[in-house]
Amino acid sequence: MDGLPSPALSRRGFVKAAVALGGTSALSACLAREAPDLPAGPDDLSSLPDRQHAWNAALSTDAHGNDVAPRHHVLLLLDYAGSGEPTEADRETTEAAFQSLERAYPRRHDGEVGLLFTVGYSPAYFERFDDALPGSVDLQEPRALAPFEDPELDRPDAVVHLASDYGSVVLAAEAALLGERDELNGREVATNLDGVFDLADRRTGFVGAGLPADHQGVAGIPDSEPVADDAPLYMGFKSGFEKNQATEERVTIQDGPYAGGTTQQLSLLRLHLEQWYDQDSRHHRVATMFCPAHADESLVEGTGENLGDTSLMEERGCPAHAGRDARESGVVGHSQKSARAREDGSPIILRRDFDSTDGGEASLHFLSLQRRVEDFVKTREAMNGTDLAGGAVGQRQNNGILQYVTVERRGNYLVPPRRLRSLPPARPT
Ligand code: HEM
Repeated sequence: MDGLPSPALSRRGFVKAAVALGGTSALSACLAREAPDLPAGPDDLSSLPDRQHAWNAALSTDAHGNDVAPRHHVLLLLDYAGSGEPTEADRETTEAAFQSLERAYPRRHDGEVGLLFTVGYSPAYFERFDDALPGSVDLQEPRALAPFEDPELDRPDAVVHLASDYGSVVLAAEAALLGERDELNGREVATNLDGVFDLADRRTGFVGAGLPADHQGVAGIPDSEPVADDAPLYMGFKSGFEKNQATEERVTIQDGPYAGGTTQQLSLLRLHLEQWYDQDSRHHRVATMFCPAHADESLVEGTGENLGDTSLMEERGCPAHAGRDARESGVVGHSQKSARAREDGSPIILRRDFDSTDGGEASLHFLSLQRRVEDFVKTREAMNGTDLAGGAVGQRQNNGILQYVTVERRGNYLVPPRRLRSLPPARPT
């Protein structure tokens, strides 16, 4: 079929390529390869968590107790089609469309993620209301967060994040929301977002062992196909260890009408991994990703699976000796720097990022959740390591992984609790 991924690809590769492509024929082709056997979702939706971002209970855990991210992702950036404040009719339609997804798919079945999703709203969306958001919500306008970046600032009204272990499920859920199908996993789709929202942008991605290796024929990765078969992300290391993630509780808004919600930061990072793979040594890769001590003591084997549930930051005092490493080793680690933003020994952002081949370029959609956008800003400033630059550590050179990534876009969103997820007012009563 024209434009579809080559049938010669492995099932894993084919499904990922179909998600990136999108559309009805990609979905049919994907279904034929994947054939997920999922029961319908619940009829009674009252048992679903009020926190939209409460995904961890539906995720698998690996042998070390780390949560395993869903493999396939679609982000739909949407603009409200109406002018001024949303109408009650549009709110009802939106809620019915989201409930159709929940009735169609289980969140989890047989050890696999069926469908998980969130919807968030931008500062631009809330500008339409006379009232401002309550002080208990810290939702900032996106902006450049380093002296060396100049990102485009995303200002759609809303973003829907769809995630599943099945590519065909995210594609079908997307098609249902956009009004392109009226049946989902054998269930009727009551209504859709057509006419309520316009699609402003579509982004896709994947995470998990094998997927990056299957898709390394893109700009930003050298032709030598260096990405290891078991790497969950293009840069070759495992990410998201249990001890290095904020808990869902830590990222949840505690007070006010939006209690139970969270904020979402979404950036698009282009990867430039030619030097990373063709010139840098394994020692340098481990030192810049984790910490020089990890490289000197060979603490990281392969993708880092041997580390268990912690990247050994606090345990080895890495954040505390970042300044000394900059002076004496001439290199500092990404995790080492980022861990300086911890509070009471624990990270303050929950990372749910994934790789992408959108536009034919190796990239990463860095999606994080935090109670306040300021928690992200603080973490990103720690990662910038501007205070560590001077001598061998430059603003981006030998300064963690900064030299291998370019921030192209940034956006911030409020992810309300589920009861307020459909075109919420600025001041819910
Ligand atoms: C290509 C982009 C990125 C890659 C491949 C990457 C990879 C990693 C890896 C492998 C770790 C260590 C394992 C772990 O702790 O889970 C880590 C830790 C971390 N990264 Fe990233 N990262 C990227 C971008 C970012 C960005 C943009 C931020 C935003 C500030 C960030 C924040 C963090 C934090 C907070 C930690 C944990 C620090 C702690 O232990 O307290 N990362 N990252």
